[in-house]
Amino acid sequence: MPKITINGQGYDVPAGKTVLQVCLEQGIKIPYFCYHHKLSIAGNCRMCLVEVVGRPKLEISCNCPVQEGMEIKTDSPVVLEARKSVLEFILINHPLDCPICDQAGECKLQDQYFDHSAVPYRFREQKVQKPKAVPLGPLVVLDDERCILCTRCVRFCDEVPKAHEIALSERGDRSTIVTYGTEGMKNAYSLNTVDICPVGALTSRDFRFGKRVWFLSKTPSLCTGCSTGCNVWLDQERGVAYRYRPRENNDVNECWMCDEGRLTYKYINAPDRVVTPFARSPENRQWTRASWDTVLAQLRTILAQVSVAERAVVLSAQCSNEENFAWTRLVRETWAGARLFATRREYPNPSEDQILRHCDKNPNARALSEFGIHERYAGGARVLFVLDALTPEEIAAVQQTRPACVVLLTTNWGVHPDAVRWRPLTNVDAVIEQGGAADRLDTLKTDTLEAPTPDPYPWADFVLPLATVAEQCGTFVNVKGRVQRFERAMPSQAEARPAWAVAQHVATLEGRPLPWEDAAAILAAIGETVPSFQGITWEQVGEFGTLLNGTAVRQCVSA
Ligand code: SF4
Ligand code: SF4
Ligand code: FES
Repeated sequence: MPKITINGQGYDVPAGKTVLQVCLEQGIKIPYFCYHHKLSIAGNCRMCLVEVVGRPKLEISCNCPVQEGMEIKTDSPVVLEARKSVLEFILINHPLDCPICDQAGECKLQDQYFDHSAVPYRFREQKVQKPKAVPLGPLVVLDDERCILCTRCVRFCDEVPKAHEIALSERGDRSTIVTYGTEGMKNAYSLNTVDICPVGALTSRDFRFGKRVWFLSKTPSLCTGCSTGCNVWLDQERGVAYRYRPRENNDVNECWMCDEGRLTYKYINAPDRVVTPFARSPENRQWTRASWDTVLAQLRTILAQVSVAERAVVLSAQCSNEENFAWTRLVRETWAGARLFATRREYPNPSEDQILRHCDKNPNARALSEFGIHERYAGGARVLFVLDALTPEEIAAVQQTRPACVVLLTTNWGVHPDAVRWRPLTNVDAVIEQGGAADRLDTLKTDTLEAPTPDPYPWADFVLPLATVAEQCGTFVNVKGRVQRFERAMPSQAEARPAWAVAQHVATLEGRPLPWEDAAAILAAIGETVPSFQGITWEQVGEFGTLLNGTAVRQCVSA
């Protein structure tokens, strides 16, 4: 373990690290642009210069391995002067268009200039002018003038999706990012380049000019686009979700996410959200908006006419552990004799790769296995509660066996199988293949707070509004058995509620309320009931999740 000195203080540091890595680990600030801890080292921006005593010139700390006895200075006058010079050099051609730049507020160049330079601008010649909006692919737009040629985006495409779609071309102030061929950047992870671009050169077609970033609040959440369970930040303002960004978790997604998952946040704001309860009008069977009280009163009457053995609940791999478990407990305790089924959303030709994307597009299928619930609904219930949605086969079973009452708890009207045109919100590839681009995503909307026509759920009698992943907290289990938490980012839209709260209402109707007040209490109950969850608590799951106990013990919930 080499002993080194940084700014007069001694450190024992692991061999094989660079000076920049050691300094960052020790909390010693060194500015940098081209270095990224998940990519190879390029050493081209020169921003990370430090003084190594005894060496004739300053060294770039990102490519300088620590050596025994090294004496490093990160804040000597010559280092500070060099940083100013590097920034002045970068800013020769960089446009000063911060007021209209999407990166303003989270721009490394702004930050470094503020911290390390702030000298008056001396360059009097005309800046080199370059194109301001070059589409690099369907989702990413390049502002060529803002590029500082750090090559993070090139290295990302080469090293993570291994797509080799973009490169640096030309020399000097003519240097520019170009795409190979005519297809452009079409890899399934292209929007990560926007995250890692240290300046506003790469922007997301989806987010650009959408919101000044300092108005956004970020909340730790999970992508629900597939069973990988990538950790994300959900950025929102006043109940409107604006974007997902990857949140670093080295056990799941490192610091990346796929484009398809990234754009799934749109369903939170979709105009086809179900945000109030709907019931069929007794006169013409049209959907009419109803209050929760009215719906619950009607359900009480219906349930009173049906034996528990004729009731069933279809749990969903889209719902959280807490939502599914609350309904499980209701069925097993209050309705002993009723039946439990499990369903999941299924898509034709689901995307998949060896990086992150999983072909199971449900965030929580693994938990239903852990709860021991596998059976698919094939008819037979007189009163059926459904979480999220049914597959076409299950809908056929409902239509053939005609239950007296079907209650659907869902977030959107758009999950109807015939509403495929609304679905590409969860399948960016499909949008791109249809010749569209991100702006097409904004057109995938129905009007309304009213039920759309044609009726998306002709087989249902009540449609109740579910809170989305942004409007409640809870946990999912990803495909590798990691229990992960998502936090509440915003209040529920209108009257949407978590499915576990609806289970509470129904249990209360039956005179046996469920004992929990929040998701953490339900997770504790799961820990007491499901062997693989034993001992897992809200706190233990923490920021980065925890693995289920041992290999999965596929045992029924005994509650
Ligand atoms: S576009 Fe951004 S990430 Fe790519 S080289 Fe330019 S500054 Fe770096
Ligand atoms: S890999 Fe799956 S969980 Fe991760 S961002 Fe993509 S869709 Fe979301
Ligand atoms: S971060 Fe070291 S040269 Fe760019």
